[in-house]
Order: sequence, then structure tokens, then C-alpha cells
Amino acid sequence: MLAFLLPAILAVHAMAKLELQVPDQPVVALHGEDVTLNCSFSHTSPFNLSDVSIFWQLTDTKRSVHAFWMGQDQLKEQAERYANRTVLFPAQMTMGNASLLLRKVVVADEGSYTCFVRVQDYDSAALFLQVAAPYTKPEVTLEPESNLRPGDEVALTCVAYGGYPKADVVWQDGSGHNLTENITTSMVANEQGLFTMTSVLNVVLEPNSSFNCRLINPLLSEERSIFVTVTGQNISFPPVALWVTVGLAVCLLGLLIALAAVCRRKIKESCEEARREAEEAKELEEEESKTAMTPLKS
Ligand SMILES: *[C@@H]1O[C@H](CO)[C@@H](O)[C@H](O)[C@H]1NC(C)=O
Ligand SMILES: *[C@@H]1O[C@H](CO)[C@@H](O)[C@H](O)[C@H]1NC(C)=O
Ligand SMILES: *[C@@H]1O[C@H](CO)[C@@H](O)[C@H](O)[C@H]1NC(C)=O
Ligand SMILES: *[C@@H]1O[C@H](CO)[C@@H](O)[C@H](O)[C@H]1NC(C)=O
Ligand SMILES: *[C@@H]1O[C@H](CO)[C@@H](O)[C@H](O)[C@H]1NC(C)=O
Ligand SMILES: *[C@@H]1O[C@H](CO)[C@@H](O)[C@H](O)[C@H]1NC(C)=O
Ligand SMILES: *[C@@H]1O[C@H](CO)[C@@H](O)[C@H](O)[C@H]1NC(C)=O
Repeated sequence: MLAFLLPAILAVHAMAKLELQVPDQPVVALHGEDVTLNCSFSHTSPFNLSDVSIFWQLTDTKRSVHAFWMGQDQLKEQAERYANRTVLFPAQMTMGNASLLLRKVVVADEGSYTCFVRVQDYDSAALFLQVAAPYTKPEVTLEPESNLRPGDEVALTCVAYGGYPKADVVWQDGSGHNLTENITTSMVANEQGLFTMTSVLNVVLEPNSSFNCRLINPLLSEERSIFVTVTGQNISFPPVALWVTVGLAVCLLGLLIALAAVCRRKIKESCEEARREAEEAKELEEEESKTAMTPLKS
């Protein structure tokens, strides 16, 4: 039985001589730039270019992205949006290179692509193309802009444009604590599929408040952030400080009055003392003279 099966198994092995290789991790391409979707195949025996058939198609819809057989490109069936944007490398094909160059990547290109190669035997494999675009540096605006006092509620709006995919947004206060309350974030795609991120933080101002709007594009491990401090000209004379100032002034005035009173009493006291001393001295003199006279009396 085994003696009968073994040649069959070996025959299957001998036939499966074409093996495809594509990246198993998603291929990340920057929006607007070119990307090469690698697809290589190993083939045991030498072959002519005219023996090679290569098909690249969208895995989900099976629409043709690029095709090649009989030694040339076959683009009649090509999906319209790939027109003039795809290139294969015929000079490299006999070396097992079926890679596709895709020019000027757009967000809509994101997805799964299947590479199919036939040289007598055939094989196919799919890879995932992931598009990325960096966000602009975030900018923060304040609403209202002026006559702010501690205790006022303000809206800080952080905006960044042109990124992909959706970003994570973190607001932090001056000491680096994550703010999670009263934040509203929206991501709106433009006609190119790139996002505008708008995040609004509603917060009650304290004197000298500072905030950090931090944007993270997970695909690019890109972090962009902006620090804003709400102080100085934005905050008019703060009521808390006003009361403290008035209080201090009143205290100071009271202190001065008290000091003046103390001084006046001190001055009066010392005058009186001087007078009393003078009187005492006079009395003493008189007494002494009396005493001096006493023995004469007795
Ligand atoms: C494609 O293959 C070439 C050669 O093996 C390699 O240098 C390049 O990094 C690969 N590109 C991608 C996106 O995997
Ligand atoms: C295939 O050839 C192209 C053009 O020379 C090259 O950029 C690419 O890296 C090659 N791919 C592989 C997998 O060798
Ligand atoms: C390649 O094509 C030429 C001419 O058509 C032929 O003579 C040759 O045997 C072919 N080689 C292989 C490896 O098929
Ligand atoms: C592709 O290029 C050809 C020749 O340059 C041109 O006629 C055609 O309009 C282009 N197609 C697109 C979709 O750009
Ligand atoms: C704040 O949030 C970010 C993103 O969610 C997280 O990576 C970070 O560890 C958080 N930091 C603190 C102090 O909670
Ligand atoms: C969130 O908003 C509410 C209502 O405006 C306010 O009372 C509260 O203090 C805010 N929370 C923070 C952390 O600012
Ligand atoms: C305002 O905050 C900054 C940074 O936290 C600090 O260096 C500065 O001393 C603060 N000023 C006042 C008046 O609290």
C-alpha cells in the first residue's frame, strides 16, 4: 500500500515547485509616496519570460490591479483608479521577482492585495497595504480669548490636519495628569480620506493654568504635542488676588495706626516719666534738705 502511495506523494511534491512569498506584516505606505508590494517566487527549473503569468488583484473584489502574460503587461481589465500607477519588473521576473510598484499611494488604496504567479505550476498569496499620513503640528485656540479670570469656563480647541489613520488624543494639565473629563474629539475625513482632528477641552481656569494637547498616530509611532499656558494678558486682575491685596492693605493700615498709637503713648509716657523723674528729683532734693535739717530739729 505504502509502496503504491509514496510515488504519488512524491509526484505531488515535484509538481508543487513554485512557492510564493509576500510580507506577512502589513506594508505601511505614506500617502502620496510610492510603495513596492513585494512578491517573490522560487522556481526550480529555468524558464523564459513568456512562460510567466502574474496577476495582482484586490483580494476582496478580485478586481485587476495589474496583469502580465505572454511577456507583456495586460491592462485591459485593470481597475481604472490604478491606471498609470502600477509597474512590474520584467527584467527581474526570471529571477523570481513579481513585485508591484504602486505610485502615489492614496488612502483608498488601503486593503488586501493578492499576488498570483504561474510558471507551469502556480501559487498565490495575499498581503495587506496600510496607508499612513502624518498629522500637522496641533494648534490650540482659546474661546473666549480675552478678559479671562480664574473661575471662568473656557473652551480650548486643538486642531491638526491631514493625518491617517485616526489619531489618539490626550490632554494633560500642567503637572502631566491626563484629563479625561469634558473633552470632545472628532475626526472628519476630507475627500482624500485624510482626517482633520478637532478636540475641545472645556475647563474652569485657575490662575496660571497650562495644558498639553498630545496627538499620537499609532501607525507611525508619531507624537505631536503643543503646550499652552493661560496667563498674563489673557487673565485680567484676578478677583482672588484683589481680595488678598485689599486685605493686606487693610492689615497694613491697621498696623500703622496701631504703631502710631503705641508710639504716641510711648512718647507721652517717656515725657511723663521725664517730668516725674524731674519732680521726684526735686522732691528728693527737698526731702534731703529736710532730712539734713532734721537732726538740727531733734
Ligand atoms: C522588498 O524586498 C526588498 C528586497 O528583498 C527589501 O529590501 C525591501 O525592504 C522590501 N520592501 C518591503 C516593503 O517589504
Ligand atoms: C523586485 O525588483 C524591484 C526593482 O528592482 C525591487 O525594488 C524590489 O525590491 C524587488 N523585490 C524583491 C522581493 O526582490
Ligand atoms: C526560451 O525560449 C526559446 C525560444 O522561444 C526556447 O528556444 C528556449 O528553449 C526557451 N527556454 C526555456 C527554459 O523554456
Ligand atoms: C495614463 O497615461 C496615458 C498615456 O500617457 C494617458 O493617455 C491616460 O489618460 C492616463 N490615464 C490616467 C487615468 O491618468
Ligand atoms: C495618559 O494617557 C496616555 C494615552 O492614553 C497613556 O499612554 C498615558 O500612560 C496616560 N498617562 C497617565 C499619567 O495616566
Ligand atoms: C467639567 O465640566 C463641568 C461643567 O461645566 C464642571 O463643573 C467640571 O469642573 C469640569 N471638570 C473639569 C475636570 O474641568
Ligand atoms: C506658573 O506656572 C509655571 C509653570 O508651571 C511656573 O514656573 C510659574 O512659577 C507659575 N507662576 C505663578 C505665578 O504661579
